[in-house]
Amino acid sequence: MISTVPVALQLAWFVSTVLFVIGLRRLSSPTRARTGIWCAGLGMLLAIASMFFHPELKANYFLILSAMSLGGLLSLLHARQVEMTSMPQMIALYNSLGGAAAAGIAMLVLLHVADYGPLVKALAVLSGLIGCIAFAGSFFAYLRLRGHFSRRDGFAKRQVAYLANGALVLLLGLILATSATAHPVLLFLFVALAVTFGLLMTLPTSAADMPVLISLYNALTGLAVAFDGLVLENPAMMVAGTIVFAAGSLLTRLMARAVNRRLSEIMYSGFGITADGLESSQARDHVNKIDARDAAVDMAFAGRVVIVPGYGMATAQAQHKLRELTQLLDERGVQTGFAIHPVAGRMPGHMNVLLAEAGVPYEKIQDLSDINSDFSQVDVVLVVGANDIVNPSARSDNDSPLFGMPVLDVDKAKRVIVLKRGDGTGYAGVENTLLFAPVTRVLFGDARETVQDLIMAIKGLD
Ligand code: TAP
Repeated sequence: MISTVPVALQLAWFVSTVLFVIGLRRLSSPTRARTGIWCAGLGMLLAIASMFFHPELKANYFLILSAMSLGGLLSLLHARQVEMTSMPQMIALYNSLGGAAAAGIAMLVLLHVADYGPLVKALAVLSGLIGCIAFAGSFFAYLRLRGHFSRRDGFAKRQVAYLANGALVLLLGLILATSATAHPVLLFLFVALAVTFGLLMTLPTSAADMPVLISLYNALTGLAVAFDGLVLENPAMMVAGTIVFAAGSLLTRLMARAVNRRLSEIMYSGFGITADGLESSQARDHVNKIDARDAAVDMAFAGRVVIVPGYGMATAQAQHKLRELTQLLDERGVQTGFAIHPVAGRMPGHMNVLLAEAGVPYEKIQDLSDINSDFSQVDVVLVVGANDIVNPSARSDNDSPLFGMPVLDVDKAKRVIVLKRGDGTGYAGVENTLLFAPVTRVLFGDARETVQDLIMAIKGLD
């Protein structure tokens, strides 16, 4: 009972909750995000540490501390090594662990049902179900993002199996929630079917829809944690879970809108792009090429230059060079800016984080909705390792798997210079018609090197 919990502990939970809220608030701006992470981390530390002072904690401190130290150490080592380009995989992996932890708490309750009332049992069933789905779905998404599996529409009647699995798991959940005694075998079946449900939900998802699904699983983990908070009567868990659920749901909605998909299509039919495999592009042989010197002249004598960064900028780590390039252009009186697509790169806010890290002023960055109508006024667009997010066929080609996804209309600018290494297509694996547009020239090479060449060439103009 919360009322039997010492006031100091309740106060600690309250402070944790406030820190979570402040942390989330600060995360909404790239300039304050770093302190937001610290705030939320501090809140989490306080929430965990305070549990050691709970009067009803009758547990093995050695086991708890060993598990916490081991988990903390492993995640610290992993987080230090992870490349910026592997962040989505890391998020998917840690989210799957969060889902598993939430489901684990629920399983413990369901193994000791005699100690709990009907409401707690129902909440535990919901938390177990949602936690298992989030665990399996996120873990499978992690494997997919690491390239271990490609999409398989595979077996016949997948949707029938999916619905039958869903119905069966709900039925088992109902039995477990209303039963007065524990049923370990039924519980095992319930977990197995919930895990299978998560796998079936992720199996047909196309590569481009994957971020939306990861964001959904993140929200689901939050919901499972919030239910666990109700079960354990822990307000810090309730609030943290609810915040994650609310923020994750909003992000899921925004991302689904950004790729023009309905969530039901992504979860149920796997509607979308037909293959993860990349088509081979004709780029190198058929596009108009440009060298660094001519590209530098185009930009140095332009009135307005807009840079569109994509996943290739992240892999090349070209953000610092781009910042230097814009400074040089600014000094020459050229108006410069960056245009960011909501799903550029491989995780939400990927480009914003990299540009903020390189010290690009926030005022220089514009979202798709703010800049799209302006492209006809732009003299030069420099596309840096971006492909799907600038592919005009998303607007016009009914057969394109990208059809309907809002893209940056860079082909409407007076000139476009694309930096890319070779014949690679983008994440969706389809040819980018922008490369063959009359306004486009391609500068081949690794983005960091070609941007450095542009810098040297502009300096050489003086
Ligand atoms: P992509 O469509 O993946 O295109 C990346 C481009 O960068 C390719 O054309 C590639 O061509 C080029 N490139 C790669 N390495 C490079 C390097 N070192 N130097 C220069 N160019 C390089 O990226 P995008 O336009 O940012 O689109 C993002 C895609 O990822 C969307 O389809 C989106 O749905 C999906 N996605 C997004 C997320 C989130 S949440 N943002 C998560 C998962 C998936 P070359 O190989 O020829 O160089």
